[in-house]
Amino acid sequence: MEIKAVSGDITQLDTGAVVVNLFDGVKTPSGATGAVDRALDGAISRLISDGEIEGKKGEVTIIHTLGKIPPARVVVIGLGKQKDFSAEVVRQVMGTTCRRLRRVGIENAATILHGAGIGDLDIAESAQAVAEGALLGLYTFKRHFSKSDDDGKGLNELTVVEMDDSKLSAIESALEKGKIYAEATILARDMVNEPSNYMTPTDISEIAQQIADEHGLEAIILDSPQMEELGMGGLLGVARGSAEPPKFIVLRYKGDVANPGNNLGLVGKGITFDTGGISLKGAAGMGEMKSDMAGAASVISAMKAIAQIKPKLNVTAIAAATENMPGGSAMKPGDVLHTMSGKTVEVENTDAEGRLILADALAYARQEGLVRLVDVATLTGAIITTLGDICTGAFTNNHELLDSVIQAGGASGERIWQLPMYEEYKEQNKSQVADVKNTGGRKAGSIAAAQFLAEFIDDTPWVHLDIAGTSMSDKESGYQIKGATGVPVRSLVNLAMALAEG
Ligand code: BES
Ligand code: MN
Ligand code: ZN
Repeated sequence: MEIKAVSGDITQLDTGAVVVNLFDGVKTPSGATGAVDRALDGAISRLISDGEIEGKKGEVTIIHTLGKIPPARVVVIGLGKQKDFSAEVVRQVMGTTCRRLRRVGIENAATILHGAGIGDLDIAESAQAVAEGALLGLYTFKRHFSKSDDDGKGLNELTVVEMDDSKLSAIESALEKGKIYAEATILARDMVNEPSNYMTPTDISEIAQQIADEHGLEAIILDSPQMEELGMGGLLGVARGSAEPPKFIVLRYKGDVANPGNNLGLVGKGITFDTGGISLKGAAGMGEMKSDMAGAASVISAMKAIAQIKPKLNVTAIAAATENMPGGSAMKPGDVLHTMSGKTVEVENTDAEGRLILADALAYARQEGLVRLVDVATLTGAIITTLGDICTGAFTNNHELLDSVIQAGGASGERIWQLPMYEEYKEQNKSQVADVKNTGGRKAGSIAAAQFLAEFIDDTPWVHLDIAGTSMSDKESGYQIKGATGVPVRSLVNLAMALAEG
């Protein structure tokens, strides 16, 4: 879809639909909604007084204008209660509205900047949210259907209309920023939705290489012999059961060449399919485990946006990619792995594979001299029990970095909630035969997993994000559709921007 900005009068545009809004409980529309209402001789006010338009969040009312004004339709969208309003509401209602317009067969529409008036959002924030909400809400994943239902129709054009033409250039650059954020999120969604036979470790490495080539990033892709040389026993241990060669992927963006220490490392879990290995998972729902590379997808996709937005900060993404399969050479429960850090790990359960590959990825990140690390992983089923799919679980050894991450998440509508890391939880990972073991019993599974990762971090400021719950959505809602969400790509980009600004 093309998104552009024009200045002019919303009631005079030649378009399939103009989108205006109403806060919950407002009886007399004002601003652009009021102007449209007057042009329609009070049709909107009438619908409000009849109780057919309430302004509830996500409510969409389509009114045919029957030639009274040039736009064929007026669409009134509910923004909910004014006190709960934010850019996130704009994203959500734009997602819902654009899908509705597509279903009705409208090919081009115009919208005002929601919330830029009485909602108190600044115009750039609103414009970015409009672009993100529209593009993400219209997302589909249909490439494996033999017959395409794409007739080139659908909602192809969205025009943002603003009265004051002195604001146009600010709006245009915010729309562009929203588009960059959305496209990176869509790349992550595509990678995660792709079945494992089309998204192998090799496929991930090729996507990373392509992003590097397109946007001028450095790419390093390591094969097994190079992993062997570095002593990556964790990643190689997991890869042993699979016929697919593992890949270790590094992407470097140099935004502050003069200060190499001004940097951020993003580390992703890239299990392209998690059978559980010899500790095999049950059949029910196992197909979902094609999404066990969502962490890797998110850090690679975030780099695509970071390369375009160009923060003054060096950012390195590191993704460890392999399948977790129960092949004849697979690692077995009781095996001991020697990791890159020098620490040894007893494999109590081969299904706790994410922490094994992350152990090596985090060790590599520290060797790279990265001074802040954020890892992203679909690490534990336990985080779904704890937080559902409403927010991502966060763990840290550094409150300042976590605050930045939580704020970056809040700004993108990707909620992040901290869980504790008390010393006592470390006890659960003690092994009789090695430095540490990879499972910590039934208690506090997500925290025990985070404490395992902490073994490979030492003092480097670090945040671990467990996205097992938030990386997938089981329903359509706002700008999410069923399937991969692309979480936390936009948070990571916001984080890079915020750290660059100091
Ligand atoms: N990839 C899974 C975690 C997961 C579960 C992600 C459900 C998304 C949805 C991870 O590798 C795993 O299997 N974790 C085990 C750990 C256990 C063996 C200690 C789990 O959560 O059961
Ligand atoms: Mn597993
Ligand atoms: Zn896994």
